[in-house]
Amino acid sequence: MDDITALILDDHAAFRRGFARLDDARGEEQLTAVWEALALHLEIHAEAEERILYPHLLKEGSSETAEEETDDAIRDHNKIRDAIQAAAEQKVGSDGWWKAVWEARTENSEHLAEEEDEVLPDFRKHADMDLRVSLGAQWLTFYGEHPSGKGLNFHDKDPKRYIQENS
Ligand SMILES: [Fe+2]
Ligand SMILES: [Fe+2]
Repeated sequence: MDDITALILDDHAAFRRGFARLDDARGEEQLTAVWEALALHLEIHAEAEERILYPHLLKEGSSETAEEETDDAIRDHNKIRDAIQAAAEQKVGSDGWWKAVWEARTENSEHLAEEEDEVLPDFRKHADMDLRVSLGAQWLTFYGEHPSGKGLNFHDKDPKRYIQENS
């Protein structure tokens, strides 16, 4: 079984490929096909992290930085969700749509770097391998239980309240 940090990296790589594919997509049909799959994956990934990774980062991560890392992450997830929502309100391929998609892209790139250089190293250092593998199994089960995001309700979260509820 994979540990959760490896599964998260797999998703991050898929996001980078998805945005690159968008550069090559031509016309509304191709743009829609690439973007809808990518946007949905971004939403499910953030929800999975908020349910499975960050509650454990708060409990097992560094006591000095885990709260700040979680606060940053929830704020970033909110910005990415907002940009996806803004894109959904625009005509695919229009200037307004590209602006929102670019916002999602740049916010996401910044966020992936923070997770990969701060959050995941912190988690690997403090959580033992049994926990990481068990969370990896939960991660895969979560994706399996919500095909195409079925049954999930994506919404912004208040970082302070999230930390309080999950500490
Ligand atoms: Fe992530
Ligand atoms: Fe994230």
